[in-house]
Parts: sequence; structure tokens; C-alpha cells
Amino acid sequence: MQRLTGGRECLTSHLSPLTSHFCFGMYENPRLLLDSSNPPEPGHITWRSPSNIALIKYWGKYGVQMPRNPSISLTLAASCTDTMLEYEFLEAADDGEIDLSFYFHGEENEAFKTKTLAFLESLLPVFPFLKQLKLTIQTGNSFPHSAGIASSASGMSALALCLCSLEDALFGTLKDPADYDRKASYIARLGSGSACRSIFSYAAVWGETPAVPGSSNEFAVPFGDELHEIFKNFHDDILIVSQEEKAVSSRDGHALMDGNPYAEARYAQARQRFDVLLEALRSGDLATFGKIVEDEAMTLHALMMCSNPSYTLLRPNTLSIIEKVRDYRTTTGHPVYFTLDAGPNVHLLYPGDIIHEVRAFIEDELKEYCEDGYIQQDWVGEGPEEI
Ligand code: DP6
Repeated sequence: MQRLTGGRECLTSHLSPLTSHFCFGMYENPRLLLDSSNPPEPGHITWRSPSNIALIKYWGKYGVQMPRNPSISLTLAASCTDTMLEYEFLEAADDGEIDLSFYFHGEENEAFKTKTLAFLESLLPVFPFLKQLKLTIQTGNSFPHSAGIASSASGMSALALCLCSLEDALFGTLKDPADYDRKASYIARLGSGSACRSIFSYAAVWGETPAVPGSSNEFAVPFGDELHEIFKNFHDDILIVSQEEKAVSSRDGHALMDGNPYAEARYAQARQRFDVLLEALRSGDLATFGKIVEDEAMTLHALMMCSNPSYTLLRPNTLSIIEKVRDYRTTTGHPVYFTLDAGPNVHLLYPGDIIHEVRAFIEDELKEYCEDGYIQQDWVGEGPEEI
């Protein structure tokens, strides 16, 4: 595999893309410009892309969206974003901003448009043809926007897939599926780190590690082929404890890792856990899987609590659910485990063969801790699809 260069030496933040200089290594391609004497027909591309749930967490980054430790996630199926990218050749391309209209669930959305425009402008060295097109993005999530479920992974991966498909439709440059996925993952990462893992079916690894040949800090690689069958039939019921917007964003949370006195120990621990978890994922060792996954969730939130300033996103109901899950496991012996992302909602992970027992447990004992009794039922899925 050809390694990407750049990134590491280009440490300007992606937060102000209009003024920053990026290095995109092999993906910088000034030749991707349309010939105005042979303009393309108008068209559209639509991708449905899922969210993912990290088992080993990405928490702490450097440079332009580079992870401090390798992470691995299960790709979900039901929590997804549908994004349609419509394009039309502009006879007289403006030298100013990219021409973009943005609709979220059918309504124009200025805030999302501004963010997306900044992101697309920052990608012009990779996709210079974007300036030559009138673009319309129509996007929406399969879950309520207010549900407190992060949509950046599904949203950014769907957008990255649309951009790569657009490049391929116009120039025929991404015919090789592995090249295509790698570029989509790379672009998704620039939008939101965890989004780069959503490109792949079942499971994906992001971050350079000797345990996974070909792994990289710049894009995720597939891990589905190595996953034991039991994990391909895993469920993730997301117990929505709070639908409120988080007090501290993931982006700010990552930044606080820079001053965290436990940061180096954490990164070493993540590497160690990663290697052990990988083996459990290959062999179907549920007990080891569960232990590591729960420890990772607790560590993530412990890191937030000992950041400076300290904060917590856990709610009393989050802890009540965690206690109930541990009690249920002790009493029944069922392999039901929890994980958390950067928020108060609890992801309940369990194999499909105990779905009836677990759903009854949720209904009887956990639902009361969920805001409006809301639970987003999800499961491990086959990854994004073009629709
Ligand atoms: C706790 O990918 O949302 O979910 O790169 O700043 O967009 P940005 O952060 P983001 O962080 C996700 C953090 C996490 C763990 C994980 O998904 O690995």
C-alpha cells in the first residue's frame, strides 16, 4: 500500500480551513478540473452511511485529525445519514466561494451550510472541480436530530462518499474499490475523526498499530473479515438518557487531553487494550471483549473528569443503568455489556441470540431511566450503501 505523506508536518488546524494551509500528500490533485468545452451533464449521487460505536476509544488527537492511539469500532446499521449531492456545471465559475445550497430534512439550514462550505473549501486542493459546479446537498438522519446520538460519523462519512463518487463519476479516477474506500475514509476523517471508521462493514481500525498491517493514522482499514461471527450478529441498543446538546463538544474534549496529566498513560493503556481486544474479537471471547469495552467507557469519562477544567457528561441515570447492567449480568450470566461515547447515553452491546431476554430486561428495568423512554435499536451492519 502506498503510504500517505503530509499531515504530520502540516499541523495547521482544520478548524479554520479558509485560512489554513493543508497538505494532502498524494490526494492533492490540481488536474481534477473539468473541461468547459465538454461539460458534464447535471447529476446526483446519494449515499446512506451509518454511525459506528468505538470499542477502543479515540480520545486525544494531534495535527490535522491524527489520533493519539489506535481505535476500533463496530459499524452500526440503523443510525445512519442519507446524503444526496446534486451537481450542475457552472458555465462561469465564480472565483469566490463554492456555490452550495444545503437542506437538512428538507429545510434550508444556514448553520450546517456554513460548516459544510468551510469543509469543502478546505478540500479544494483534493477536489478542485468543486468550484466549477453548482452543488446542492440534501441530507437527513434516520434518528431524531435531538436524540442525543452523535451524527458526525454518519454525516461526514456520507458526505465523503458522495465527494469520492462525484470525483469518480466526473473523472473515472477511483475505480479500484480499495483505493476508493481509503480515500473516502481519509476525507471522512478530516470532517470528523471517528467518521473514517464508518466506511467499512462490520468493524474498522483507525490508527497506526503493528497489530494491524496496513493500518494508518490517516484513514481506517477494514476489520470485518477478521471478526468472529458472533460479533457480526451483535446488537447495540442505545439508551437515550438525555437528548440535550452536550455541554462540552468532542472537539473540545479532545483538545483537553493535551493538558491532561494522565494522557501518556492513557495512550499506552489504549494500545495495550487494543491488542488484547483484537484477539478477543477474532476468537469470539465475549468475557474479555466485555471487560475491555466497559473499561474503555469508564476510562473515557474518567479522562473528562480529570481534565482541566474538569467536566462530566455522565448523568445519574447513566450510572443507574450501568449498575443494573452489571447486576443483570451477575444474576443471569448473559453477556450484556455497556459502552459510552462522549455523552450520557448508554450503548448496550449483546449477541443476537439473547435478544428476547435483553429486550425484556430493557423494557422492565432500563427504559424508566431513558428520556421519554426513548431507545434507538441498532445492530452491527454492512456499512454504507449507494442508494
Ligand atoms: C468518544 O470523532 O466526534 O466517540 O474528530 O473532533 O470530530 P472529532 O471527534 P469525534 O470523537 C469521537 C470520540 C468518541 C470515541 C470514538 O468514536 O472513537
